[in-house]
Amino acid sequence: MARIRDILQTGEPGQHLKVQGWVRTRRQVKEFTFVDLNDGSSMAGLQVVIKADLEGYANLLKDLTTGSAVEIDGQLVQSPGQGQRVELQADQVMVVGTAPADSYPLQKKRHSFEFLRGLGHLRSRTNTLGAVFRVRNTCAQAIHQFFQDRGFLWIHAPIITASDCEGAGEMFTVTSLDLNHVPRTPNGTVDYSQDFFGKPAYLTVSGQLEAEIMALTFRDVYTFGPTFRAENSNTSRHLAEFWMVEPEMAFCDLAGNMDLAEEFLKYLFHAVLTQCPEDMDFFNQRLDNSVISTAENIINHTFERITYTEAVALLEKSDRRFEFPVAWGIDLQSEHERYLAEDLFRRPVIVTDYPTGIKAFYMRLNATGQTVAAMDVLAPKVGEIIGGSQREERLDILEQRLQQAGLDLETYWWYLDLRRFGSVPHAGFGLGFERLMQFITGMGNIRDVIPFPRTPDSIEF
Ligand code: 4AD
Ligand code: MG
Repeated sequence: MARIRDILQTGEPGQHLKVQGWVRTRRQVKEFTFVDLNDGSSMAGLQVVIKADLEGYANLLKDLTTGSAVEIDGQLVQSPGQGQRVELQADQVMVVGTAPADSYPLQKKRHSFEFLRGLGHLRSRTNTLGAVFRVRNTCAQAIHQFFQDRGFLWIHAPIITASDCEGAGEMFTVTSLDLNHVPRTPNGTVDYSQDFFGKPAYLTVSGQLEAEIMALTFRDVYTFGPTFRAENSNTSRHLAEFWMVEPEMAFCDLAGNMDLAEEFLKYLFHAVLTQCPEDMDFFNQRLDNSVISTAENIINHTFERITYTEAVALLEKSDRRFEFPVAWGIDLQSEHERYLAEDLFRRPVIVTDYPTGIKAFYMRLNATGQTVAAMDVLAPKVGEIIGGSQREERLDILEQRLQQAGLDLETYWWYLDLRRFGSVPHAGFGLGFERLMQFITGMGNIRDVIPFPRTPDSIEF
């Protein structure tokens, strides 16, 4: 079955075609009805012309409403009207599924994104969400292409895990225990030995630790899959379930890691600009008129690279009044990150060498001990989009860091083993896929760049 996108691009007048899709709008003039038919393959729909003398015309119009599903046979003709090269003259129209006008919630007027979130089962039929999910698909494909072209192996990290990669305690528990009758040990704690895995299990917050295992075999690997965080953050940048891309490279240091991150982001922006021009133009016209120039700016300029200590000095020097006061040692807040990327440098900024105390246990300790070889890539409007580091490859230091973080060495025995057997300097990062989608499309709320957002108190659909 021909897709509308292909018909619009390569369809030839004279062709007889069958098309299937959903009615976006219908416009009636004296002897015709124009239908804008959309099948999701492109932003633009196919204009279908139904002549008033078509058999059963009056009856047909009753059912041919916005949202109804139809199948149409007809002939492609050159369009005399403006805005399209070809249109379809209908010979036969079948309404496959009706959508009564008095109850179908997506009418022609513009709906707010918030309203549409309550219609998670229908909102992909709107122009904006349709464009978002097409760009998302292109971007996912480009991510694989980027790594496959460079010889990276795609690793399928587990979703259920026993270890907390970030050590931040933001994990969802996975259990098959009857929560109404939880078995207890003699001292009153939950008896996980009776649980499915015989010990506590969680949804993964990151595939990094498993990627490190594989990097020490295959050199260059990446994960791309869902990750989960039980952090109670109701912001426009946080999801409880989000997708993360995590490359991990053996024989690589922080500089190599930064180079890859920069090349990677440039590649992805280039891919969507060339493969989704129609959708990107739409975002630029309707949502944020800096979307295209931002993308071109990313592709054509090198990223700024500064240390955390330099970043703090710049923030302290600025006359901006921040809600969270700045001092060496604080974790940078979104307002600080955005100030740096959006106002000061006006492009992505890679901040490196954060204080040891605010970063995860696996990051490589720098010579002074005060900082670690961490890097965050900060993007205009979105703030942190990538977090990564060189990893601590020295066994004794890693053991100390785990202990200082209050983590149990036993749980991480295999991770420590990697430092006993063929340990090498290695590095990697995690790109939040939805943050990237926000960055690319200009969408303000992260809930609108993932088909089915999971956030605190919200899990419909
Ligand atoms: O900075 P994070 O926590 O780093 C890691 O998880 C490392 N293990 C990555 C690595 O080195 N392999 O998360 C990485 C990225 C963030 O920069 C952000 O873009 C995204 O994941 N992210 C979230 N996106 C949406 N909702 C959340 N709750 C997110 N938390 C992190
Ligand atoms: Mg981070």
